[in-house]
Amino acid sequence: MIDLRSDTVTRPTPGMREAMATAEVGDDVYGEDPTVTALEAEVAALFGHEAALFAPSGSMANQIALQLVVPPANELLCDADAHVVTYEIGAAAAYGGISSRTWPAVGGDIDPDVVAAMIRPDGYFAVPTRAIAVEQTHNRGGGGVIPLATLRELRRVADDAQLALHCDGARIWHAHVADGVPLIEYGRLFDTLSVCLSKGLGAPVGSLVVGSAEKIERARLVRKRMGGGMRQVGVLAAAGRYALAQHVERLAEDHAKAARLAEAIAPFGVLATAVRTNIVPLDLTKSALDAHTLAAAAREAGLLISVLGPRTARLVTHLDVDDAGIDRAVEILTRVLRG
Ligand SMILES: Cc1ncc(COP(=O)(O)O)c(C=O)c1O
Repeated sequence: MIDLRSDTVTRPTPGMREAMATAEVGDDVYGEDPTVTALEAEVAALFGHEAALFAPSGSMANQIALQLVVPPANELLCDADAHVVTYEIGAAAAYGGISSRTWPAVGGDIDPDVVAAMIRPDGYFAVPTRAIAVEQTHNRGGGGVIPLATLRELRRVADDAQLALHCDGARIWHAHVADGVPLIEYGRLFDTLSVCLSKGLGAPVGSLVVGSAEKIERARLVRKRMGGGMRQVGVLAAAGRYALAQHVERLAEDHAKAARLAEAIAPFGVLATAVRTNIVPLDLTKSALDAHTLAAAAREAGLLISVLGPRTARLVTHLDVDDAGIDRAVEILTRVLRG
């Protein structure tokens, strides 16, 4: 089976397993795991922030960060397709008492003026806005990259209204590779970031919250409260450190594979947007096939894809699919789409 459902399906490479097996560990709840401490320092430095905190998942890292910047009964602005309000099962409301309001989904093509117009000030009559969240790259937005100029403009909007700016950077590495923007350049634009090691970077588990020393001290408490304090977790941090050293620059290969898939299916009129990174979004509104029929036929032929809606589907390239796998996927998709 060729599995293009998600970049979360990768398995640790032999080199990564070796790094995990030989990791020095301690009890991280006591702050005594040297591998976790090293990973946290490394990631903080990559983004030019004072500190970082290892978390079990991207969802938890996002939710910890949101609780740092939006008090209960205050408001977060984000887009309607954002992971934080689509796939995190109402966590912002359930754990943080956070009220969320969304701008219409536009992937990475955010208009800062639209966001600025939504901001509500402190006062008696409305829920005050406290933070803006963006997603880099944008998952449901087909791996779209928010341009640096847009992010700078959003920073200005946030500063003018004294709001925090959060980045769900589960795939910020892909944006860095696609646009050539240094991670530190992204880092300095945000008050908080969550960055993930277990998507394109291929680690089995782990994300980090990145921010100021004061915020990360509070984040440690929030993580513990959410049940995310972990013990000898250096075995997982070692996988993350290995991924950062070995698997960032190679993301360009995944982007090239996604571009090949996009080129092959474009003649069938099913490409939802131009492909920039490792996600190929399919819009089947003009196709004879709906998403379930396409996915079932592909599975039958040996290819797994994700169904996102009745007429939307997704292919994601990653570390565990090589060029021969992409050749085979192209063959299967063109055959099924031709009907
Ligand atoms: C953009 C984005 N943010 C956050 C997450 C959450 O990560 P996790 O599955 O580790 O909770 C995902 C997962 O796919 C994602 O795509």
